[in-house]
Amino acid sequence: MKTWAIANQKGGVGKTTTTLCLARGLVDAGYRVLLVDLDPHASLSHAFGVPVDPPSRGSYEIFVEAGAMLSRFARPTAVEGLQLCPSQPALATLERRGASQPGLGLSLGRALHAARDLWDYALLDCPPTLGLLMINALAAADRLVAPTQTDPLALHGLRDMLRTTQMVERSRRRPLPQAILATLHDKRTRAGMQSLQELRERYGERVCPDPIPLDTRLRDAVAIASAPSLHSRGADAYREALQWLLDPLSFQCEAA
Ligand SMILES: Nc1ncnc2c1ncn2[C@@H]1O[C@H](COP(=O)(O)OP(=O)(O)OP(=O)(O)O)[C@@H](O)[C@H]1O
Ligand SMILES: [Mg+2]
Repeated sequence: MKTWAIANQKGGVGKTTTTLCLARGLVDAGYRVLLVDLDPHASLSHAFGVPVDPPSRGSYEIFVEAGAMLSRFARPTAVEGLQLCPSQPALATLERRGASQPGLGLSLGRALHAARDLWDYALLDCPPTLGLLMINALAAADRLVAPTQTDPLALHGLRDMLRTTQMVERSRRRPLPQAILATLHDKRTRAGMQSLQELRERYGERVCPDPIPLDTRLRDAVAIASAPSLHSRGADAYREALQWLLDPLSFQCEAA
């Protein structure tokens, strides 16, 4: 099983939308895909209509059950071949436990490893905060997809994110090859075009050549989750981006 963390410390940059669109593309290509919703806000789970309150079994159990088995927490979605380990509000309480419970940072990696034959891909939708949940995802992943909006503030956020990644790489003692996806791109604005250019200059071949355009039809993530394949500028750009991500040469390690 290949594990992709979809992460950026900055909020609202399109992580959940990216997770959904890439997962749909992978399923369309015939892969068995597991989605893990690690965000206590549960946008991804909501998109699939999973009731998170009161909490059902889901991502929280990965961290609190000894020998947690993902197959027991993952549930089918309306999309054949796509399963979801839903978020629960209790995920938000884990940060406090993290400090007092050694080894909690590796819980997700262990659970994914134990389930490695059940799915071809696991996509981890991370919360927009640097904490135990994101660290778990980065420690467990073999690839990082970092969506970033093309605006100057988002570029600062990306720099912080890649610094965090370096820290995790040092502690796990193996590289985490990464790909950067420009999202919510508005090519009509100067700020959008300048930020895209800066992104390419700074990160070179790690940046996906196809930015994801602003697309009102993509805005409603709920609509993308279970509906038949969406055709719109944004959804088509995600299909192109997935083709690029599936090329093993696209993910690269930090050069500097
Ligand atoms: N290409 C796009 N065009 C238009 N709207 C988009 C696009 N991508 C995402 N959105 C919308 O932007 C908002 C933020 O997207 P999303 O929830 O995917 O970001 P996120 O990084 O997961 O946010 P959070 O940090 O809160 O988890 C959502 O309302 C989403 O529907
Ligand atoms: Mg999200």
